[in-house]
Amino acid sequence: MDLTLAIKTRKSIRRFQKEDIDISQIIKIIEISSNAPSGGNSQNWFTYIIKNKDVLGRMRKEVDEVYRTVTGKDTPGVYVFFNEAPIVLAIVEKPYIGSIDNILEKTDKDRNFVRKFIVNPGLQSVSSFITHILLLCHNEGLGACWMTGPLIAKQELEDIIGIKSPTISLRLSR
Ligand SMILES: Cc1cc2nc3c(=O)[nH]c(=O)nc-3n(C[C@H](O)[C@H](O)[C@H](O)COP(=O)(O)O)c2cc1C
Repeated sequence: MDLTLAIKTRKSIRRFQKEDIDISQIIKIIEISSNAPSGGNSQNWFTYIIKNKDVLGRMRKEVDEVYRTVTGKDTPGVYVFFNEAPIVLAIVEKPYIGSIDNILEKTDKDRNFVRKFIVNPGLQSVSSFITHILLLCHNEGLGACWMTGPLIAKQELEDIIGIKSPTISLRLSR
């Protein structure tokens, strides 16, 4: 597909056919997407490919439970359709520390805070990776949707998937 056409016609897809998807097709999409730009060429992403329906069901249940605890309401559909997809990608940001971060860490706490949590080059890099994945999926006729809603249960989902916290500390105080 022509790139301009791909960018213009990509849409978030939230309903899926039951058809299985060949995992090698997804791996190829992930590999090609690794050409995305990243801060210092860090490629600071890691992708979990989740197909197991029991695991996806447990993830959905956790999101529902956390949402209900926090709001007292049922989870809106736009946060919990992911378990109906044949494949879910959990894309994780690995810590990114550039040379500027090392300098600011020692010299200027306020700028360090802004750099880490507002500029956040690590997160920007992962976003560029995800954008590539979505466009490649569209190009291959695979519907997809970027989701952060389920991350209301971030910790619980990480526990189910087995994602460990980074050893590098991200200090929150200014
Ligand atoms: C950071 C981010 C988080 C998103 N989270 C959700 C989500 O939790 N649930 C959902 O249904 N869509 C989610 N979306 C998809 C947006 O709603 C969608 O991209 C936007 O409405 C534009 O529609 P389009 O993608 O069809 O062009 C998210 C998109 C981004 C970039």
